[in-house]
Amino acid sequence: MARIDEITDGIYRISATVQVDGRAFQFNQFLIDDEQPALIHTGMHDMYESVRDAVAEVLDPGRLGYVILLHFEADECGGMDRFLDGAPGSTLACSALSNDLNLSGWDYRGRVEPHRDGEVIDLGRHELRFLETPHVHHWDSMMLFDETTKSLFPSDLFIQGGDQPPVVTENLGSEMCGLYREVGIFAHEEPVRRVVDRVEELDPDWVHGMHGGSLTREAFPYFVRALREEPFAYQGKLLGRPLEAPAR
Ligand SMILES: [Fe+2]
Ligand SMILES: [Fe+2]
Repeated sequence: MARIDEITDGIYRISATVQVDGRAFQFNQFLIDDEQPALIHTGMHDMYESVRDAVAEVLDPGRLGYVILLHFEADECGGMDRFLDGAPGSTLACSALSNDLNLSGWDYRGRVEPHRDGEVIDLGRHELRFLETPHVHHWDSMMLFDETTKSLFPSDLFIQGGDQPPVVTENLGSEMCGLYREVGIFAHEEPVRRVVDRVEELDPDWVHGMHGGSLTREAFPYFVRALREEPFAYQGKLLGRPLEAPAR
């Protein structure tokens, strides 16, 4: 069962906590309640009912105007066909690369809107700006910035493991870097740190990651500092499984 909490001004976090290798881990989607309601990430295919039911606590899921995926991966877009069936008027928005590399070769039947860096979707009150953020952590990765609430949606950057509350104020930066080293999602620190510089300049009030709680503006610098100062790139482990000896 997913829980839903309003984090700030029409932005709702829908979160399910699951056990992965005996440890709690969260999958979040974000609903923006607006003239054109938007769902950011869908969750995996089999999470559809719980995410849809959580959306239905706030608005009719058939009214969704946009479903937005931030890179092509099951937790981002595994439910896209099912949300399309429930909201036939919706548009799937993604990065230009997600479309060119993936969606254009898939059998998705709905409307698709690819976006490049700097483009904006107007939902009514909220305006979502697209940031192309290649290799954080996929080639096609992007993030969103809502100008209205100064909210960053960074997908898998700024995440936390464990069963977190909807809003996180603690310094869990070192734990985040340790988790990244274990799962091996970033090939290298450099493209990530370049994006960290860029999103810091946006001066966000909120950071709504896909895994863990939403960060306040007071907590955000802890995570920025950890990403600047600590190693977090691939060190020979995939989802905790050693594949090769660590580089020296
Ligand atoms: Fe991902
Ligand atoms: Fe993710």
